[in-house]
Amino acid sequence: MAGPLLLSWASCLLVVNQAFIIHRCDLAKVLHEQELEGFEGYSLSDWLCLAFVESKFNTSKVNENADGSSDYGIFQINSHFWCNDYHSHTENFCHEDCQDMLSPNLLSSISCAKKIVSGSRGMKYWVEWRLHCAGRPLSYWMTGCRLG
Ligand SMILES: *[C@@H]1O[C@H](CO)[C@@H](O)[C@H](O)[C@H]1NC(C)=O
Repeated sequence: MAGPLLLSWASCLLVVNQAFIIHRCDLAKVLHEQELEGFEGYSLSDWLCLAFVESKFNTSKVNENADGSSDYGIFQINSHFWCNDYHSHTENFCHEDCQDMLSPNLLSSISCAKKIVSGSRGMKYWVEWRLHCAGRPLSYWMTGCRLG
């Protein structure tokens, strides 16, 4: 009896681990609810493309940079400027804990991303968005997604 029990417990852990990857259309729905469609002129497809190139939809992604700062969450928000990681120097412009950027409800990430995209560079702030999303046809990111 212990064998199968152990096995199902182990696969349960695996599922919990993978739960940090949000499905594309679930993300579209959250972005829509948080009124990002058209925000500063960017479409939901722009936001989906941004989330994909930054984190591959991994809401718990953390990436440490050479300068000692780290990038957090689905939009890879940087601790040097935007959030406090209690580890390296920060301007903390979003007045948030970086750990909150990893929350599966995405609310802190979205509110901070709104602040970033409201800056003079808009979404071009994110180099990966500029390289891989800007000026490209992006509507396919919304394929099959129903928002209502
Ligand atoms: C998501 O990010 C976390 C933290 O960086 C990492 O440990 C985990 O392996 C990632 N998950 C996937 C499926 O890439």
